Amino acid sequence: MITDESIQLVKDTARVEDVVGDYVNLKRRGQNLIGLCPFHGEKTPSFNVRPSHNNYKCFGCGEGGDPIKFLMTLEQLTYPEAIRRLAAKYNIKLEEKAVSQEVREERQEKEALILVNEFAQKWYEDQLYNTDEGKSIGLSYFKGRGFRRDVMEKFGLGFAPTGRNGLRNAAIAAGYKEQQLEQLGLVRNKKDFFWDRVMFTIHNLQGKPIAFAGRILKKDVKAPKYVNSPESEIYHKSDVLYGLYQARQSVRKQDNVYMVEGYTDVISLHQHGVHNVVATSGTSLTPGQAKLVKRQTENVTLLYDGDKAGIKAALRGVDVLLEADLNVRVVILPDGEDPDSYMQQVGVTAFEEYLTQKRRDFLFFKADLLLEEAGEDVAARSAAIRSSIATLALVQDPLKRANYLQQFTGRLGLEESLLINLVNQAVAERREKVKKDQEREARRKEREARTQVQGKGRRPSRRRDVPPPPSAQDAPEWGGMEGDAWAGMQEPSAATDTPPPPSANDAPSWEGMTDDDGWAGMQEPGFDGAGEVFDMPPPMIDGQVPDVPFKDPLADALLYIGHTFQEKDLVRLLIVHGAKLYDDETKVYVAGFLTANVADVLEDFDNEQSRKAVALVTDYVAQHKQGPSPEWFLNHPEEYIRILATEATTTPYTMSPNWKDKYKVYLRQKHPDENQKLYADNFLRIFRMEKVDRKCKQNIKKIKELEKAGDEKKMLLYLKLQMRLDEMRKNLAAELGTVVI
Ligand code: CTP
Ligand code: MN
Repeated sequence: MITDESIQLVKDTARVEDVVGDYVNLKRRGQNLIGLCPFHGEKTPSFNVRPSHNNYKCFGCGEGGDPIKFLMTLEQLTYPEAIRRLAAKYNIKLEEKAVSQEVREERQEKEALILVNEFAQKWYEDQLYNTDEGKSIGLSYFKGRGFRRDVMEKFGLGFAPTGRNGLRNAAIAAGYKEQQLEQLGLVRNKKDFFWDRVMFTIHNLQGKPIAFAGRILKKDVKAPKYVNSPESEIYHKSDVLYGLYQARQSVRKQDNVYMVEGYTDVISLHQHGVHNVVATSGTSLTPGQAKLVKRQTENVTLLYDGDKAGIKAALRGVDVLLEADLNVRVVILPDGEDPDSYMQQVGVTAFEEYLTQKRRDFLFFKADLLLEEAGEDVAARSAAIRSSIATLALVQDPLKRANYLQQFTGRLGLEESLLINLVNQAVAERREKVKKDQEREARRKEREARTQVQGKGRRPSRRRDVPPPPSAQDAPEWGGMEGDAWAGMQEPSAATDTPPPPSANDAPSWEGMTDDDGWAGMQEPGFDGAGEVFDMPPPMIDGQVPDVPFKDPLADALLYIGHTFQEKDLVRLLIVHGAKLYDDETKVYVAGFLTANVADVLEDFDNEQSRKAVALVTDYVAQHKQGPSPEWFLNHPEEYIRILATEATTTPYTMSPNWKDKYKVYLRQKHPDENQKLYADNFLRIFRMEKVDRKCKQNIKKIKELEKAGDEKKMLLYLKLQMRLDEMRKNLAAELGTVVI
């Protein structure tokens, strides 16, 4: 181990301008030097070196620190490795103090194992390039896949022949121990473990071979497609990402890493110039892997196959990334393609274009996917949203979380306050879980420590070298330069791939209309006549919580998507006030007044129950020439009518949340007793306004379609309708005191 004095000497000697200058072309600017940042791609220099403080800072990406940190980051060195590197540069002789026997043994053991793997890698490569079997089977296979020689060498590809003792014999002859070969999983039961397979080398961050994977070439055998080295002293699967060594510099420059599933995907993308790619090797991501990524970039883009399995895989393991506070995006490739095949098929330009076009923020991707699966089923939708919310709650940064939340609200058409509650709930649950996990982990450690003391210093099996952490003072802050790579998190395609609200988008009755049908009959509600005064329900008072049995607020809210809430309001009015007189002189009842004025839009109702209820009341009025009493509803043979009636007559009236913000005027109606008629009329106006608004939108869409199709005759018809709709909107808006855009 290097002595503290030696470390200090290195620190005092190393000059930041020298060390950085070995990698970066620096130009003087005043007292400081400036150059192009080696940690991120840039065209104008924002990388500053301050000899006076012996440190550097990039104002583009935020990287900064002392010469040691510079080497550690750029060359992926451990702390002692960086010290040694600097000592060599400045010809400083390092004093080493005796390390404990244990640590030294372990280090030597690891180094020895890496040497064995280096031998094995060379042997596999030799088989591939220089033997008949290797050339005819392995090399021709790789060539058939289009792999170039330089890329194959960069990734340490090789070949394990059919004979089952080639590697073992060669290694033992070269002086390596059977026991080491066994430890590394290269040999098992005195036979080569890998045989008749093409070989992939798995590197650590220093580019040393720590494990292998072998791919079978025969198609019809039962054996697994890939076999991998087992865990060993030098290979901890959960802390390795395939290809990271080769990818790391590009990952920093691009400030993004592509994650794919397969070894061959990594190699193929690399060969085509996409270097910032690593493979998860088809397994779930681990916190260790997330940490590895986090040291290089905050931005992860997952690339998955377009089949069901690929899409499911896209949902797996992502929690781990979000918990590490990484920004996660997803690209689903066309069905049947993996990154390798798609790259080979379309080439790098189209490939990259596809990625930019199709990448989606993970959270929205997940929510949309689950919602699509759920269809119209309220319970399933509720579950989908809960699941998405739970994922959202994993986002560590509260600002980022809030931003997501806002966008969720818009997409789902739900009340923001409801979502906030759900997220907070999920965050609290999450905290609770993390706390419990930590407590459990602490107890486990305590137990382990106790047994170790009892076992007299028995070495824990998986100890790793822990370098002294570079102290915080080493990296002085030059100001809060926070790189927010995905600020805003807007997706380019957000507008187009939002799922449409579950509405009856093209009501059949509007098809094939003639100049004179449909809306021709639609009239604004009449205003004349003082009318009979009837009680309106009390307006909602903020903070007044109705005494209702507990219901799932989310499932409840989902019922109110589209115009459902408004339609329910109408039914509620009919139930509570339908039997009262609207106009004394003409003997019009509230039920008659309301039903007559919505008859023409009944087809456009989103909620089937409400539509039927209104239709039933319409029939009742036609028959009895008056409105039905609340008792009629309460005793109705249809169960849903009875339920609606019970609700309407027992719970205080609350305004539909969707209406509140849109039509402020409605809420300004202070006291229902003074304004009842206006209140009822306004209700109808707003109700109709909503329907007209929607009709307008549908109509405009239709016009555009017809224009495209060149159907001028039909288009004219729809244009006429549009004029009428606009007129109606204007009138309604004027009456409501709102402005139509
Ligand atoms: N994998 C594995 N063991 C298997 C199958 C797959 O370890 N029996 C891992 C490998 O890391 C593999 C990845 O999962 O690279 C993806 O599997 P797959 O898509 O089947 O293989 P590809 O990498 O696409 O290999 P190829 O293109 O050669 O079929
Ligand atoms: Mn493949």
